[in-house]
Amino acid sequence: HRHLLGIEGLSHLDIEALLERAETYVALSRQVEKKTATLRGRTQINLFFEPSTRTQASFELAGKRLGADVMNMSVGSSSVKKGETLIDTAATLNAMRPDILVVRHHAAGAVNLLARKVDCSVVNAGDGAHEHPTQALLDALTIRRNKGRIAGLTVAICGDIVHSRVARSNIILLSALGAKVRLIAPSTLLPTGVERMGVEVFRDMKKGLEGVDIVMMLRLQLERMNGAFVPSSKEYFRYFGLDRDKLSLAAPDALVMHPGPMNRGVEISSEVADGAQSLIREQVEMGVAVRMAVLDALAQQLPNG
Ligand code: CP
Repeated sequence: HRHLLGIEGLSHLDIEALLERAETYVALSRQVEKKTATLRGRTQINLFFEPSTRTQASFELAGKRLGADVMNMSVGSSSVKKGETLIDTAATLNAMRPDILVVRHHAAGAVNLLARKVDCSVVNAGDGAHEHPTQALLDALTIRRNKGRIAGLTVAICGDIVHSRVARSNIILLSALGAKVRLIAPSTLLPTGVERMGVEVFRDMKKGLEGVDIVMMLRLQLERMNGAFVPSSKEYFRYFGLDRDKLSLAAPDALVMHPGPMNRGVEISSEVADGAQSLIREQVEMGVAVRMAVLDALAQQLPNG
């Protein structure tokens, strides 16, 4: 593969190989000296058309730990503000001969389109409600390290599924690796026909949580709801927020995940987010290692790689 545009299209073996490679970078990132020369001489540009804390910071750190020259394009002060299109922006950056472009965009499919217009490798850092492949990979790595496996686990993904690229990438990846996936959400936040993806759907959170091994919470993506009915935070929390009482319905050793950013008191209580069953901080740590693995794997495919 020259690009990483989604989990769709990756084989079981591709995923396992990336997770194995990421393990070595978890170990390296825990050392005092965190750098290798794997990407020395390479240029990586991070092009984020949507806000990000975790993904952008970890792609920058990942590239730097591998020895690449990393540039963060500041879209807010770029010529995008003067009406330059996505494709012209990409073609302009491509002319500067980067090796890897890491792109986040609000439109589903925008990153795939861009990948067809440039010579370098492209990594999807989240496109609309389509895919966020490195998030699903870091989630899988986090689960595997804590549960020792993914096959046979039951994972409940809860909340705003319809707007979530994280949910979509995770459904594809977790199913490919043999987990059972449940979706828990009100009807208004479920995509139509999602059952065709081989998941079980619950509109009652208490029923959906029964016996699950992993509870993955999602933020209400208000920025994608333009004008649609939005439940009040208090009402949403009552029925679909994860608190200690609802979590007690999951398996006794269930673990809690959230891709971030979290809205405390809306989809998750602080007690659960900061509690002993939470893997949220570890997910962030795994994010750097997984992105190092992805950049490294793509660099092997580049000319002279
Ligand atoms: N999980 C995630 O993509 O977070 P950011 O939007 O902060 O990158």
